[in-house]
Amino acid sequence: MKIFLDTADIGEIRTAARWGVLDGVTTNPSLYAKVGGSYEEILREICRITSGPVSAEVVADDVEGMLREGRAFAKLARNIMVKVPMSELGLEAISRFAEEGIRTNCTLIFTSNQGLLAAKAGATLISPFVGRLDDINQDGMIVIRELAEMFAIHDIDAQVLAASIRHPQHVTQAALAGAHISTIPFKVLGQMVHHPLTDKGIATFKADWEKARAAAAKAAAETPAAAGSAATTTAARADGDGSSGRTGPRANGVKPARHGSGSGSTKRRR
Ligand code: E4P
Repeated sequence: MKIFLDTADIGEIRTAARWGVLDGVTTNPSLYAKVGGSYEEILREICRITSGPVSAEVVADDVEGMLREGRAFAKLARNIMVKVPMSELGLEAISRFAEEGIRTNCTLIFTSNQGLLAAKAGATLISPFVGRLDDINQDGMIVIRELAEMFAIHDIDAQVLAASIRHPQHVTQAALAGAHISTIPFKVLGQMVHHPLTDKGIATFKADWEKARAAAAKAAAETPAAAGSAATTTAARADGDGSSGRTGPRANGVKPARHGSGSGSTKRRR
């Protein structure tokens, strides 16, 4: 399952990219409102950070307006994907974008039938909103599972993008339900990285390492003679077995074997 970041925050996107886990980004007008500035410039910057799909959402409420906005987004970078809300006009716009070769992400999907229609109209990505369904006491993951099964049974190319993810369990469940992609808020991505036992384990290993190093340094400082004699023994051993890198007197009286000669040589045996 691919992982997209659900944000318009450049800092968050850069961080996820550095972690090596970023497959794409989804934005929407609400996420854009949190950061402000020029939406177009933000989209260009995101497309410079990731080569994966970057969703840019249209807000027009007529087909021609959606097409105008979507075509302008598509010109910003080759990995832009035009996000179109599910509606009768949205389906028409998706169908027209498909004819023009512009890829779309159909958003605000709350039923499997909506997803099926969006796929038929030509959307590349279908985005069921899991969290918002859970909020009204419906199981959002059912839509993910049903669409993933439908697309597999009928060999439909569209991909299921689990959206409105609220916590790490949603990500696990979406992956198991067959979602092709999950788009995840940065906070949830961070929660996926951490576990209290992992963090505690790292701290314990570090503390034990420092304790052991301090004890070793203390022992060496307290017994300089022992340290000196150990160094002499090591040097003598190295000299005797040839590992010192030069040919010299043999400490053990055994002639060192030479490669390609003597009874060990394959050539000689033949
Ligand atoms: C994704 O494409 C959606 O815009 C997003 O996941 C919506 O999430 P929300 O329900 O947390 O706003």
